[in-house]
Amino acid sequence: MHNRLSSRVLSAPVAGPTADCKQLNCSLFNQAVFRYDGGPFLNPRRPCAATATCESAVFAIGPYQITEPTVLAPMAGVTDLPFRQLCRQHGAGLVVSEMVSSNPELRATRKSSLRRQFAGEPAPRSVQIAGTEPATMAAAAQFNVAEGAEIIDINMGCPAKKVCRKAAGSALLQHPQLVADILTAVVAAVDVPVTLKIRTGWDSDNRNAVEIAKIAEQAGVAALAIHGRTRACRFNGSAEYATIAAVVAATQLPVIANGDITSPQQAAAVLAETGAAAVMIGRAAQGNPWLFSQINHYLTSGELLTAPSDDAVATTALAHLAALHQFYGELGGLRIARKHIGWYLDAHFSGRSGEFRGQFNRLDSATGQTAALTEFFNQLPATTERAA
Ligand SMILES: Cc1cc2nc3c(=O)[nH]c(=O)nc-3n(C[C@H](O)[C@H](O)[C@H](O)COP(=O)(O)O)c2cc1C
Repeated sequence: MHNRLSSRVLSAPVAGPTADCKQLNCSLFNQAVFRYDGGPFLNPRRPCAATATCESAVFAIGPYQITEPTVLAPMAGVTDLPFRQLCRQHGAGLVVSEMVSSNPELRATRKSSLRRQFAGEPAPRSVQIAGTEPATMAAAAQFNVAEGAEIIDINMGCPAKKVCRKAAGSALLQHPQLVADILTAVVAAVDVPVTLKIRTGWDSDNRNAVEIAKIAEQAGVAALAIHGRTRACRFNGSAEYATIAAVVAATQLPVIANGDITSPQQAAAVLAETGAAAVMIGRAAQGNPWLFSQINHYLTSGELLTAPSDDAVATTALAHLAALHQFYGELGGLRIARKHIGWYLDAHFSGRSGEFRGQFNRLDSATGQTAALTEFFNQLPATTERAA
């Protein structure tokens, strides 16, 4: 019997297809797999016991088996190498880089070269590219693969004006033929899997995610992440998941559901509503990389982990601070650290950090930041365990 609370393929072999399973074709192993539709918490791409190689994977992206149903969303200015490594350590099944422009003139900038760093990062290394011209994006994909990318992710979800003005990011959703041309060109240009990130459409009158998903599937895209908002919604209102469910129903692509997921229970509910293979977490992971393991654990066991202790948060935040100083150098590290430390304070010390954030933001040396943060944690009273 399938475990009701499991949205993932557990290490124990599944007993084989039941009457609740539908037969699908596994593009990775080119053989039949079975989709379980019998319960609210499910993995729609769950393979049957016959596909032994699939057993520990939640879903596959080309040759890469992703073993946890949680993905870190690409976030410019946030998902740099130190933060991606941290999220992987805390259970994210896949992490995606900050977007890099496909404009070759920007490759040599310090910002772009930092965004292409993956030293020590486990496979698969997914790099997101943004652009508007099929040939330029194909060349950018090749360049990034040569630099070490193992998955190329294409950004058709970013609503930022400076991206959309050039008919890139989510603006591309208005131009299905251009979408097809870009995806076909990029897939043909590289021999690594290509994934796509979209919104549900351009605006509420033009929710064309199903059309775009079919184009992506036809072009050979390996997985699709969907933020449950239109471009016009930007970050307003609540994410809607019905369009994501419609894409899951209309294609065989592994779909990753994204938007406003902040807790294990919500992740389970979104997987149940959409039938997606995984959830993608953006803002809720800021200052809270523990969310990945909390979601993974809940989906497997139905139990909530306790929230990290103050000591655990202190250890992680101080190590993250040191990694940022090292990665960006003192000047850049100081600036980026103000954001991340602010997020740790919001997520774990809300109402307990007083004036500390303002004081921290005025510090102008790496040693000053480290000393102040250490002192902040040292003066916290001992706390008891909290529920996540
Ligand atoms: C600071 C920030 C930067 C982002 N940068 C990107 C980006 O570079 N590429 C992209 O596809 N989406 C980007 N996004 C969108 C996120 O990937 C994600 O779709 C969105 O935040 C919704 O997920 P959430 O509700 O879990 O945060 C960004 C979001 C934020 C908050």
